[in-house]
Amino acid sequence: MDIYNFGKELIVKAGQFVETRMTNEFKVDSKSNPNDLVTDVDKETEQFLYTEIQEKFPDHRIIGEEGHGENITDTKGVIWIVDPIDGTLNFVHQGENFAISIGVFIDGEPYCGLIYDCMKRDLYHAKYKQGAFLNDQPLAHAKNEPLSKSLIATNPKRILREATKNSFFNIMAASRSVRSYGSAALEFAMLAKGQIAALLFIKLHPWDYTGGQIITGELGYKTTDIHGNELPLLGTTSVISGNPEIHLDILEFFKNDKTLHDFHDDFHNL
Ligand code: IPD
Ligand code: CA
Ligand code: CA
Repeated sequence: MDIYNFGKELIVKAGQFVETRMTNEFKVDSKSNPNDLVTDVDKETEQFLYTEIQEKFPDHRIIGEEGHGENITDTKGVIWIVDPIDGTLNFVHQGENFAISIGVFIDGEPYCGLIYDCMKRDLYHAKYKQGAFLNDQPLAHAKNEPLSKSLIATNPKRILREATKNSFFNIMAASRSVRSYGSAALEFAMLAKGQIAALLFIKLHPWDYTGGQIITGELGYKTTDIHGNELPLLGTTSVISGNPEIHLDILEFFKNDKTLHDFHDDFHNL
């Protein structure tokens, strides 16, 4: 079985693991701050993904939010970038609206993207240059809409700092309205379905965006950081994704914001 088909089966199996596991008690801990939560289910699901991938493809490498691949410093060979639960706060507080996200790269080039909405049992998937699908249905190509006619998504808690306020608030004011769903992966899935026209984040990790970037890239959506640069596979960055028109509109707001640029570059150590 090739990597893509294996990945599709694997992510659904991991989703079933989460669904079953969450019916039993699980421990909730905090990481970098009291609102940054992690559960046993995040860790066990990452371990499940790791074990299955290693068993099938012993020479592949895995980077996961919960610690696998922490020492990886190059992008040679096949790398799986996994977020075992994207939207852990939703997982803990709501028991839904979270996803598993996977991006697979070969020598740093995109190979396939997978997002599994566990509770809806919806699989978003794409193999590079072969279109993107929701389950068996092809997803439609991005339509160009300006910011003024669009719903956009962001994480409001992350943009309350002085340095981020100006541009982000102006963008929100210029949009039709703003949504926040609490899972970057699911927000990419909504972008892929055309339910929102853009998403913007001041800080994400590759496991938050690689699956979604590959899927939406197949549909003509553009994803960069606030400078318009490509996103890294290692490290953290800001993320702007949307149809080409809105992507340009949004970049324009950031262009002359020196405070934000300085903050961004310090924040991400670029
Ligand atoms: C988080 C979600 C959230 C985003 C945060 C991420 P996690 O991932 O994607 O939407 O705003 O920045 O850290 O921690 O639930 O995997
Ligand atoms: Ca995440
Ligand atoms: Ca996570």
